[in-house]
Amino acid sequence: MNEKKVADSASIMTELIMPNDTNPLGNLMGGNLMRWMDIIGGVCAAKHAEAHVVTASVDHVSFTRAIELGDVITIKAAVTRAFNTSVEVYVEVFAANIKGHENRRSNHAYFTFVALDDDSKKPQKVPAVIPLTRDEQELYDSAIRRRELRLVLSGRMKPADASEIRNLFANLS
Ligand SMILES: CC(C)(COP(=O)(O)OP(=O)(O)OC[C@H]1O[C@@H](n2cnc3c(N)ncnc32)[C@H](O)[C@@H]1OP(=O)(O)O)[C@@H](O)C(=O)NCCC(=O)NCCS
Repeated sequence: MNEKKVADSASIMTELIMPNDTNPLGNLMGGNLMRWMDIIGGVCAAKHAEAHVVTASVDHVSFTRAIELGDVITIKAAVTRAFNTSVEVYVEVFAANIKGHENRRSNHAYFTFVALDDDSKKPQKVPAVIPLTRDEQELYDSAIRRRELRLVLSGRMKPADASEIRNLFANLS
């Protein structure tokens, strides 16, 4: 299976925040934003895997700045690292007003998608990611620790087996 570059599947979505997207305070409702993040993250993962994917987990979505009615948001998604049948996708959200002013980064999260075989609907192998830039390399290197953390938190890995996290803390002391 051929390795693929991050740029091969990097994906972007733009949305204008309409009244239907907002909460009673006139700001974008968090659930609507998470839906768009999931969609563009899934598109990115599917392009990388060249397969249908399902969302396995989402790490740490925090809402630091409100997004208002009439704002324009740009959601960027890029693969960080592929494992066996899963791929981690970094999703970032930027908001600006309609004139392109007051541009700010408002959210980010790491999504994990699993590729499924069309016939069996079972997980299938995904291509490895080739990091080329320094940022891509940093996200690639740290992905192994985020993976361990999410597998421990979801009860799929014993804390004792989380060797990368243990090494990280051992190196700090
Ligand atoms: C995700 C899913 C396919 C995993 O199935 P499974 O039978 O547990 O398969 P496996 O044990 O072989 O795991 C497959 C991959 O999923 C990953 N995975 C499973 N649960 C995970 C979780 N909570 N967080 C991160 N990765 C997870 C595993 O680490 C493995 O990755 P790897 O092959 O790269 O090592 C299955 O749980 C599923 O279909 N979930 C529902 C997905 C869905 O409907 N999403 C939308 C929700 S509305």
